[in-house]
Amino acid sequence: MKKVLITGITGYIGGTIAKKLLDKNYEVTGLVRNEAHVQELESLGIKTIIGNIHNEDLIKSAVSSVDAVIHNADSADDAYAVDSFIKALEGSYKTFIFTSGSAIFGGKENGKKSDFIFREDFPLQPRLEMASRVMINNYVLQSVNKSIRSIVIVPTMVYGEGLGIKKDSIQVPALINFSQKKGHGVYFGDGENIWSNLHIEDLANLYVLALEKAKGGSIYYAENGSSSLKNIAEIISKKYNLKSAQSLNIQEAVDNFGPAGGYFGFASNSRCSADKARTELDWKPIYNSIENFI
Ligand SMILES: NC(=O)c1ccc[n+]([C@@H]2O[C@H](COP(=O)([O-])OP(=O)(O)OC[C@H]3O[C@@H](n4cnc5c(N)ncnc54)[C@H](OP(=O)(O)O)[C@@H]3O)[C@@H](O)[C@H]2O)c1
Repeated sequence: MKKVLITGITGYIGGTIAKKLLDKNYEVTGLVRNEAHVQELESLGIKTIIGNIHNEDLIKSAVSSVDAVIHNADSADDAYAVDSFIKALEGSYKTFIFTSGSAIFGGKENGKKSDFIFREDFPLQPRLEMASRVMINNYVLQSVNKSIRSIVIVPTMVYGEGLGIKKDSIQVPALINFSQKKGHGVYFGDGENIWSNLHIEDLANLYVLALEKAKGGSIYYAENGSSSLKNIAEIISKKYNLKSAQSLNIQEAVDNFGPAGGYFGFASNSRCSADKARTELDWKPIYNSIENFI
């Protein structure tokens, strides 16, 4: 039986990957920083190691007893934790799957539409604010030269109910919450900006396929559809019986969600194609409508 260590296992993505792996009879261990979750995880058949991703000795020892690591614990921007995992895995030929995020494709478009669709073989020229995220991805990919089977997955806007402890994603729940406070669906600027998206279970299935089939040094973008933020706001208005969706200015986005959330999470474009995953890994996502999950 293959042994997999998952960080962020109490989170939305990590918890759902864990469930998919357990269903396929993998042995799953979670790195958990909050002891309060241990009993619930263990009742689901998940082994636990208590600790923080910023403890190098702990990571070294956790990594030594598994065949693969899937790192999701607030992973996308944390170079410290990545460095620790790569140090711990160096020379082991073990698998390291790293979760990034598709804000790397974003511009400061302030609600205007962009038609550009990114693919893995297009060179990225990220804005300054996302440059370190891209450097982290490249560092992980290059660790294939340190005898690590490294794989990067770049999820777009993930929706749907998680299968682990945390059921909710990030962007859509935050927009619903904010819209309910305002009394109307909310978009920023023209709201014509578009994000690719995908369902959490399709994403988790992609991790399982990547674990089983991907070549070391591979990056996969993950999407199965897209929507403008204005469309999402209109659906929120209808589903939550709020007033018609309205535009707010970008500063309100920044004030509420911080600059990364405001400019990139809600007012940029983040569009890509996951054809590489479909072709190389035979990934067959089944959900394609964010509208049904708002
Ligand atoms: N959800 C999306 O739509 C989406 C899309 C693209 C990329 N991503 C990226 O994917 C990653 C995971 O996202 P998510 O939606 O699963 O997030 P999430 O539900 O907020 O989960 C984050 C997880 O990380 C754990 N964690 C954070 N800091 C930690 C630390 N210092 N030590 C140990 N564990 C720590 C949390 O543990 P606690 O339970 O103890 O807090 C939790 O299990 C993030 O990097 C996110 O940016 C997410």
